[in-house]
Amino acid sequence: MPMMHSLSVYAILLFLSWPFSSVPLCASDHLLVPGKPLSPGSVLVSEDEVFALGFFSPSSSNSTKKHYYVGIWYNDIPKCTVVWVSNRAAPITNLSSVNLAVTSSSDIVISDSNGRVLWRTNNNINIINSSLTTAISVVAMLENTGNFILRSLADGAILWQSFDQPTDTLLPGMNLRLSHNMHPLQQLVAWKGQQDPAPGVFSYGADPNNLLQSFIWNGSRPHRRSPVWINYLLRLYYMDMFKSTIYMALHHAGDEVYMSFGMPTGSFAVLVRMNIDYSGKVTVLSWESNMSVWRALYAEPEHECNTYSYCGPYGYCDNTEIIPVCKCLDGFEPRDDKGWIVGRFLQGCRRKEVRRCTHGDGFLTFSGMKVPDKFLHVPNKSFDECTEECKSNCSCVAYAYSSMSNMDIDGDDTRCLVWMGDLIDMENNAQGGENLYVRTYVLQGNLRKVKTIKMVLPFVSSLLIFVCVVFIWAYVNRGNHASKGVWQRIMRVYSRTCKELVDSNTEFPILRFRTIVVATNNFSESSILGQGGFGNVYKGKLEDGKDIAVKRLRVGSVQGEMEFKNEIVLVTKLQHRNMVKLLACSIHEDEKLLIYEYLPNGSLDSFIFNDTRKSLLNWPTRFKIITGVASGLLYLHQDSRLTMIHRDLKASNILLDAEMDPKISDFGTARIFSVNEKQGHTNRVVGTFGYMSPEYAMEGIISVKSDVYSFGVLLLEIVSGLKICTTSPSTHSHNLIDHACSLQRDGMLSNLVDPSIIEGCSPDEADEALRCIHIGLLSVQNNPNARPLMSWVVESLDNKAIKLPQLKEPIYFGYQIYGSDGLG
Ligand SMILES: *[C@@H]1O[C@H](CO)[C@@H](O)[C@H](O)[C@H]1NC(C)=O
Ligand SMILES: *[C@@H]1O[C@H](CO)[C@@H](O)[C@H](O)[C@H]1NC(C)=O
Ligand SMILES: *[C@@H]1O[C@H](CO)[C@@H](O)[C@H](O)[C@H]1NC(C)=O
Ligand SMILES: *[C@@H]1O[C@H](CO)[C@@H](O)[C@H](O)[C@H]1NC(C)=O
Ligand SMILES: *[C@@H]1O[C@H](CO)[C@@H](O)[C@H](O)[C@H]1NC(C)=O
Ligand SMILES: *[C@@H]1O[C@H](CO)[C@@H](O)[C@H](O)[C@H]1NC(C)=O
Ligand SMILES: *[C@@H]1O[C@H](CO)[C@@H](O)[C@H](O)[C@H]1NC(C)=O
Repeated sequence: MPMMHSLSVYAILLFLSWPFSSVPLCASDHLLVPGKPLSPGSVLVSEDEVFALGFFSPSSSNSTKKHYYVGIWYNDIPKCTVVWVSNRAAPITNLSSVNLAVTSSSDIVISDSNGRVLWRTNNNINIINSSLTTAISVVAMLENTGNFILRSLADGAILWQSFDQPTDTLLPGMNLRLSHNMHPLQQLVAWKGQQDPAPGVFSYGADPNNLLQSFIWNGSRPHRRSPVWINYLLRLYYMDMFKSTIYMALHHAGDEVYMSFGMPTGSFAVLVRMNIDYSGKVTVLSWESNMSVWRALYAEPEHECNTYSYCGPYGYCDNTEIIPVCKCLDGFEPRDDKGWIVGRFLQGCRRKEVRRCTHGDGFLTFSGMKVPDKFLHVPNKSFDECTEECKSNCSCVAYAYSSMSNMDIDGDDTRCLVWMGDLIDMENNAQGGENLYVRTYVLQGNLRKVKTIKMVLPFVSSLLIFVCVVFIWAYVNRGNHASKGVWQRIMRVYSRTCKELVDSNTEFPILRFRTIVVATNNFSESSILGQGGFGNVYKGKLEDGKDIAVKRLRVGSVQGEMEFKNEIVLVTKLQHRNMVKLLACSIHEDEKLLIYEYLPNGSLDSFIFNDTRKSLLNWPTRFKIITGVASGLLYLHQDSRLTMIHRDLKASNILLDAEMDPKISDFGTARIFSVNEKQGHTNRVVGTFGYMSPEYAMEGIISVKSDVYSFGVLLLEIVSGLKICTTSPSTHSHNLIDHACSLQRDGMLSNLVDPSIIEGCSPDEADEALRCIHIGLLSVQNNPNARPLMSWVVESLDNKAIKLPQLKEPIYFGYQIYGSDGLG
């Protein structure tokens, strides 16, 4: 806690120098001390002169009834921007004889000469028991962060701070309490008007009924709802002008969950704030000093269409239109046709055909959706259990599923949502959009219709896929002739592969669909091995006794379809001992199956993160896995004819065969580059937070160095047996990389090695483990150019005579939350 530390040192120095100082005590620049109140006209200024605190009046009017407040604003920007107001509900009307003072009872008070108290901090903390006179036992200071803190001088304890009493603005390092057993939730409350700091009708805060979303409220009515949270990282903004990021993230500390607003450390030149204005708009703003304006990086709601339930039940706001507009979900039509045309959407939509619910009902997938409000969160369900939960109850209209990566609230990171009533407040193409599965009823007594659909559907969908592929191809080739040949080759390979599938060519074996149905016991629940990006993976046994793993594309998943094709094309072309082998495939009507070799030991994460199984992987085995993954990745990057970036390398994508040799799997998200194309840019960031390199997660830049980063994370996980998202109180670190960096600074890297393998490790093996950590840290460096290539990694793992370069600081500052440990 460097911030706290330097502060208490400062406070002690202050205390020591006091009795001997000939300078009279006074409210110095950034300090407010007892007995020396602040009066109108003078201000406190933070040490770096960014913030100022004092009396102000927002109204520029010439009315005689001017209102005054004590607030904090930016000191040296021309546009007066108030970030905090103390007495917003109790304005000062007569400025003569008012002042702001720290009292002997450890309170900060605004009062007039008659002793009338207009505002106070209301500390119920007893006076610090010290040998000092009470008069100098507390001090209030305006910090560089914009936080006004009242501290006890005796022990530096924070008695009160303005960051705990947010008004309408969040500053970097500030938190908003979303859930706590004892303390009330915190909200940002907008000003009443542009010039009126009194509490207005709009506010921003968590949904009090569940911890999965936030709201902007208009009084007690929802005005705008956030997307339902999936990840602890709620939002991430990249300010290209400043080469800096801002983010909002969820944190879990004890029985408290809070949202923090922050920037990576070391990026302080930019002034940023999050604000709710009097009209109910939440914005994230950055100050552009050369233009003297606050630039909005983000604002919500952006359009009327994005306000709460604007499109009525079963309607959604289509954000792909230039001016977003309401539409009905497929299979639904407007309830009020005429109103719909003139822009009255409130009545929403209804089903075109109402049917009785049967167990044969299916679900239509809508992707990229902001899923509706009024859901039920069913705890502890797998994806298939969640489907069943909805399917088996006729009142259930829709469901959505996600695993709350890295959030782990209440120890259950599954997120099965079901809807029992109308679906309201949806948007498509939404930030953080996800799949929504809406019940469709089986059309009994209408079989002819079903048949034509069945005949037309494959044709339409193959046309669609063709169009998609051509589109992507065209997109990738914008002004890029170098990779054209490569893509034409891929296209040829793709059509050939498909033709082979259809013509039962012998080169690539096709298994009859029936065979696989038998082998997997009709895709029984008990044969499910896991859940992939676009469907389940089943275990099967062929008649000749051979074990197989079958990947089955979930019907209706367009994105899955693309990834499926990608995987066929890539994996048939890739032959390496450390890559999972595709044995065959099968396409039968809507069913698309990929058949892989079966790897009896499952995925790496089921070993290294499992307390009982991790000891099965001793150091030599772990080292074998590390070198295996490295050589598989090197093959992907360099040795195969094309350069390929895996993009989603992680422990759960590394499978282990009977000999514990690793096989890289899951190529659905991989991307191909021609040899002279070094890096790419993508709009669709896929991958897993924690494993994604900062430049990829934030800017969408991919290169082989993004895979090197993921490899580094994986390497650290294998050596330590800790997940990337592990926080460590002992080193105050936010994740595994941060933890490793702290240990490295302190020269205690050996503490990172998994305790369950340390015993029985020879000194040589221990050195090898340390060497691996070193290589891991080199691979996760923030600067992609500083990370090594896989060829170097493979060589350095193999040949211990190769000297490793020194680690340069800072290795890591990607997701560090500024100041999150310095605040009470
Ligand atoms: C000042 O007061 C006059 C008379 O009441 C009014 O017409 C004028 O608009 C006021 N100016 C401002 C800036 O409010
Ligand atoms: C403001 O307060 C001062 C001192 O208390 C008093 O003399 C003065 O009359 C007051 N002015 C108004 C407008 O109330
Ligand atoms: C304050 O300190 C004195 C002397 O150290 C002790 O006798 C007294 O009990 C303390 N009071 C409180 C309230 O802790
Ligand atoms: C806020 O709610 C009030 C009624 O409670 C309504 O009149 C007003 O239009 C709403 N404001 C917005 C921006 O929706
Ligand atoms: C403002 O600064 C940015 C980056 O520092 C620069 O790109 C831009 O041209 C500047 N604008 C003006 C008007 O000077
Ligand atoms: C979820 O399941 C686990 C193990 O089956 C159990 O320990 C835990 O209490 C369950 N959590 C909830 C919220 O039901
Ligand atoms: C369906 O869900 C509703 C709402 O949760 C519940 O009241 C009802 O009992 C459920 N019905 C069945 C058959 O499970």
